[in-house]
Amino acid sequence: MTPPISRRRFLAGAGVLAVGGGALAAGCAEEPAPAATAGAVPLAFIPFRGRHQAGITAQPSPAVGLMAAFSVLARDRAELAAMFRDLTDEIDALMAGRPPEVRDPAYPPVDSGILGPEPAPDNLSVIVSVGASLFDERYGLADRRPRELVEMPFLANDRLDPERSHGDLLLTVQAEHSDTVVFALRQLMRRTRRTLTLRWVVDGFNRRSAPGEKGTGSPRNLLGFLDGTANLATDPALMARHVWTSPADDEPGWTAGGSYHVVRVIRMLVEFWDRTPLAEQEALIGRHKNSGAPLGADHETDAPDYASDPEGAVTPLDAHIRLANPRTPATERNLILRRGFSYTRGYDGAGQLDQGLAFVSYQRSLESGFLAVQRRLNGEPLEEYIRPEGGGFFFALPGVPTRGGHLAEGLLA
Ligand code: HEM
Repeated sequence: MTPPISRRRFLAGAGVLAVGGGALAAGCAEEPAPAATAGAVPLAFIPFRGRHQAGITAQPSPAVGLMAAFSVLARDRAELAAMFRDLTDEIDALMAGRPPEVRDPAYPPVDSGILGPEPAPDNLSVIVSVGASLFDERYGLADRRPRELVEMPFLANDRLDPERSHGDLLLTVQAEHSDTVVFALRQLMRRTRRTLTLRWVVDGFNRRSAPGEKGTGSPRNLLGFLDGTANLATDPALMARHVWTSPADDEPGWTAGGSYHVVRVIRMLVEFWDRTPLAEQEALIGRHKNSGAPLGADHETDAPDYASDPEGAVTPLDAHIRLANPRTPATERNLILRRGFSYTRGYDGAGQLDQGLAFVSYQRSLESGFLAVQRRLNGEPLEEYIRPEGGGFFFALPGVPTRGGHLAEGLLA
């Protein structure tokens, strides 16, 4: 039975409840609307059903994110299918804000209660992705592996920690607030405790900036630079071209509507960075630190002009953005959708801060997406300041368009 919709929930779902202010921004004459801030976004329940998993392109990009990688313990394909059905049902309920069932107090409650009796909308989305190891001999899925999906190899400059890399299944949980993310993760793990066991977790944040007149509202990363400026816009035509696997691709049919999903947990050597001259920092990235403008330009949204700078007098030829995207017709096919988070997780044994970028990209092809960009970046001068320590290659499952359907239905059919 569908629970009645409360007034608070209706208004909030319609995007009327202001973040942080707690007061209704509309329809409340005596209470002035809170001033708009860079972080104020409408809060809603993001619909789960659709051709693609909604979290991949959800706008505005989430303020908080968590990735948790698991080993799958299902004993056979039937248990594996049951696990995906349970995950689907739980994600559907979480994203819709379905209030938990009230139980006899003689039993443990069905949820942790972290969000109170009626979870408020918080732009929560959950993305489910699978790793290459799910296609080993255990479930007879070898012939259904997305063709380019392999265990993430060591790439230039990597110091991958096996304890923080790879996995059969990856959950990405995103929302506006950390407690929403923690709540969702605990619900999902509780529901799947017999079949999923945790391997590693990384969680992080993005604080959107004030967009200004010629800015994008991108967050700053922990090197202090705006990150996301030249990202792929999430409009359907670009997504179809660069992000979603298509039935026309040389891939198993079930993959259509999914996406190759790369996670790279890249530590930043922040103490060293903070002792680096500003001019050098800007030359390493290829943008001005304050404005985010390309070197030699004024506004964040100005396009870099590499054609009239063939020697790299303005933007060094080995600046991060110039290598990542040389902006030539031939490299247009390498565009990727970046959806990473900054993370901070304490300090190491040498008393150095453990901070960095949980880099995430989605692309239609690993070869012509992430790997092509990474090959150009191999040996870039920025490498001195960063160290990839974990993550993995995954494939984000296609969405679930129909009511009775579930995640991985095509894969397991
Ligand atoms: C800790 C590691 C990294 C840092 C600090 C970093 C930082 C940045 C910054 C500040 C920008 C400019 C703003 C923007 O357009 O978003 C940028 C752009 C970009 N980065 Fe990175 N990045 C990192 C790793 C990577 C990796 C691993 C890749 C892919 C293999 C990558 C691909 C790109 C691309 C494609 C662009 C856009 C370039 C353009 O279109 O002009 N980055 N990055």
